[in-house]
Amino acid sequence: MIGFESVGRVADFPQGYVRGFKLQDEEVAVVQVDGRFYAFSNACTHEDVDLADSMLNGVELACVFHGSVFNVETGKALAGPAYKPLALYSVRVEGEDVFVGEE
Ligand code: FES
Repeated sequence: MIGFESVGRVADFPQGYVRGFKLQDEEVAVVQVDGRFYAFSNACTHEDVDLADSMLNGVELACVFHGSVFNVETGKALAGPAYKPLALYSVRVEGEDVFVGEE
Protein backbone atom coordinates (compact mmCIF):
# COMPACT_ATOMS: atom_id res chain seq x y z
CA MET A 1 0.00 0.00 0.00
CA ILE A 2 1.35 3.40 -0.94
CA GLY A 3 0.61 6.70 0.70
CA PHE A 4 -0.44 9.70 -1.36
CA GLU A 5 2.40 11.44 -3.20
CA SER A 6 2.47 14.43 -5.50
CA VAL A 7 2.91 13.58 -9.19
CA GLY A 8 2.75 17.14 -10.50
CA ARG A 9 0.34 19.86 -11.50
CA VAL A 10 -2.90 19.48 -13.43
CA ALA A 11 -1.29 21.16 -16.46
CA ASP A 12 1.42 18.45 -16.52
CA PHE A 13 -1.17 15.93 -17.76
CA PRO A 14 -2.33 16.82 -21.27
CA GLN A 15 -5.15 14.69 -22.57
CA GLY A 16 -4.04 11.56 -24.40
CA TYR A 17 -0.65 11.23 -22.72
CA VAL A 18 0.38 8.51 -20.30
CA ARG A 19 2.94 9.52 -17.66
CA GLY A 20 4.81 6.95 -15.61
CA PHE A 21 6.03 7.38 -12.02
CA LYS A 22 7.77 5.30 -9.42
CA LEU A 23 5.86 5.79 -6.18
CA GLN A 24 7.65 4.11 -3.34
CA ASP A 25 8.28 0.67 -4.89
CA GLU A 26 5.40 0.68 -7.35
CA GLU A 27 5.34 1.69 -11.01
CA VAL A 28 2.24 3.79 -11.59
CA ALA A 29 0.84 5.45 -14.73
CA VAL A 30 -1.34 8.55 -14.60
CA VAL A 31 -3.60 10.01 -17.28
CA GLN A 32 -6.15 12.78 -17.57
CA VAL A 33 -9.32 12.29 -19.64
CA ASP A 34 -11.83 15.14 -19.95
CA GLY A 35 -10.65 16.64 -16.67
CA ARG A 36 -10.78 13.38 -14.73
CA PHE A 37 -7.60 11.66 -13.55
CA TYR A 38 -6.92 7.94 -13.51
CA ALA A 39 -3.97 6.05 -12.07
CA PHE A 40 -3.12 2.42 -12.66
CA SER A 41 -0.27 -0.05 -12.58
CA ASN A 42 2.29 0.89 -15.24
CA ALA A 43 2.72 -2.68 -16.40
CA CYS A 44 0.73 -4.45 -19.09
CA THR A 45 -0.72 -7.61 -17.60
CA HIS A 46 0.28 -9.54 -20.71
CA GLU A 47 4.09 -9.32 -20.48
CA ASP A 48 4.68 -6.78 -17.71
CA VAL A 49 5.94 -3.97 -19.96
CA ASP A 50 5.75 -0.21 -19.42
CA LEU A 51 2.48 1.31 -20.64
CA ALA A 52 3.77 4.90 -20.80
CA ASP A 53 4.28 4.72 -24.58
CA SER A 54 0.86 3.27 -25.19
CA MET A 55 -1.99 4.98 -27.02
CA LEU A 56 -4.86 6.47 -25.07
CA ASN A 57 -8.20 6.95 -26.79
CA GLY A 58 -10.72 8.27 -24.30
CA VAL A 59 -10.51 5.88 -21.35
CA GLU A 60 -9.21 3.03 -23.53
CA LEU A 61 -5.49 2.36 -23.45
CA ALA A 62 -3.93 0.17 -26.14
CA CYS A 63 -0.61 -1.47 -25.30
CA VAL A 64 1.90 -0.77 -28.09
CA PHE A 65 3.42 -4.22 -27.88
CA HIS A 66 0.65 -6.64 -28.77
CA GLY A 67 -2.45 -4.48 -28.76
CA SER A 68 -4.20 -5.38 -25.53
CA VAL A 69 -6.77 -2.74 -24.61
CA PHE A 70 -7.57 -1.69 -21.04
CA ASN A 71 -10.21 0.62 -19.62
CA VAL A 72 -8.23 2.99 -17.37
CA GLU A 73 -11.33 3.81 -15.31
CA THR A 74 -12.13 0.22 -14.36
CA GLY A 75 -8.78 -1.46 -15.09
CA LYS A 76 -10.62 -4.12 -17.08
CA ALA A 77 -8.90 -5.77 -20.04
CA LEU A 78 -11.21 -5.18 -23.01
CA ALA A 79 -9.13 -6.97 -25.63
CA GLY A 80 -6.33 -9.51 -25.39
CA PRO A 81 -3.89 -11.07 -25.37
CA ALA A 82 -3.93 -9.63 -21.80
CA TYR A 83 -6.92 -10.82 -19.82
CA LYS A 84 -6.08 -9.72 -16.26
CA PRO A 85 -7.14 -6.21 -15.19
CA LEU A 86 -4.77 -3.38 -14.32
CA ALA A 87 -4.47 -2.54 -10.62
CA LEU A 88 -5.96 0.89 -9.92
CA TYR A 89 -4.82 3.69 -7.62
CA SER A 90 -6.68 6.68 -6.26
CA VAL A 91 -6.09 10.22 -7.47
CA ARG A 92 -6.74 13.37 -5.46
CA VAL A 93 -6.63 16.80 -7.05
CA GLU A 94 -6.11 19.58 -4.54
CA GLY A 95 -6.14 22.95 -6.23
CA GLU A 96 -3.69 22.50 -9.11
CA ASP A 97 -1.77 19.66 -7.48
CA VAL A 98 -2.26 15.99 -8.33
CA PHE A 99 -1.64 13.24 -5.77
CA VAL A 100 -1.72 9.48 -6.27
CA GLY A 101 -1.91 6.76 -3.66
CA GLU A 102 -4.06 4.04 -2.17
CA GLU A 103 -7.06 4.67 0.07
S1 FES B 1 2.88 -6.70 -23.55
FE1 FES B 1 1.03 -5.54 -23.66
S2 FES B 1 -0.20 -6.68 -25.02
FE2 FES B 1 1.63 -7.84 -24.87
